[in-house]
Amino acid sequence: MIGVFDSGYGGLTILRQIRQVLPQYDYMYLGDNARAPYGTRSFSVIYEYTLQAVRYLEAQGCSLIILACNTASAKALRSIQQRDIDPAKVRVLGVIRPTAEAAPMRTRTGHIGVLATPGTVSSESYVLELQHQNPDLVVTQQACPMWVPLIEAGEHKHEGADYFVEKYITMLLAQDPKIDTIILGCTHYPLLLPKIQEAVAGMGIDIMAQGEIVALSLQDYLQRHTDIAQRLAPKQEGMGSVCYLTTESAEKFAGSASVFLSEPIEAQHIEW
Ligand code: DGL
Repeated sequence: MIGVFDSGYGGLTILRQIRQVLPQYDYMYLGDNARAPYGTRSFSVIYEYTLQAVRYLEAQGCSLIILACNTASAKALRSIQQRDIDPAKVRVLGVIRPTAEAAPMRTRTGHIGVLATPGTVSSESYVLELQHQNPDLVVTQQACPMWVPLIEAGEHKHEGADYFVEKYITMLLAQDPKIDTIILGCTHYPLLLPKIQEAVAGMGIDIMAQGEIVALSLQDYLQRHTDIAQRLAPKQEGMGSVCYLTTESAEKFAGSASVFLSEPIEAQHIEW
């Protein structure tokens, strides 16, 4: 089974695309909605919460876990990979590296903007990963602390969100008007995509959401690691199962997640 973890609903934007590309596997989604957002929390808290989620998913039988959360990928992934897991039993992957690998192919000006949580921005993970791909890239970051709370509260489609969408995009472009590619460096942000696209309309800016990139990167990973793919016991025919777990109310999660996924789902509340 493949575990997919996020602080809340954002990872659903990744899960949806992964299931389209890799429908044959069983999935377990875990949203720590009760403690979201993570993006404004300290390094040690994000690490502690993420490790707890990884241990939980591993105990449920996940032998591959995707941190479908940039904040957790930025702040906790490396420590977990190096210190906390036995790679013979479980692999943990993040979402920042595949995104940074894809971005240089999309920009023409070499000026890339990154919109992310304060935690991801302060980690400088995108700057380091992008400049590792190409040291000549000019990378500018903008933290968007209000976006995840708006989405977790279900306000992302309403007019009130317009102000904050425009605000952070204006702040990013004021830092570097040559930006032609913007990475949505938070898995929640695709839920604001229509408003983000409206805010950059006519500017020739390419908005990069991560879902498809992460899904194709995972497909490539499983093709290169056939032992891991086999351990995940893919179905020979038809789609695998998916179960949704949340640390918040199951009804609340199922209601919001059904809207995000455009299909009815059932969720289960978990206690750590
Ligand atoms: N979806 C997470 C990310 O990609 C979220 C953030 C949060 O909880 O602040 O960074």
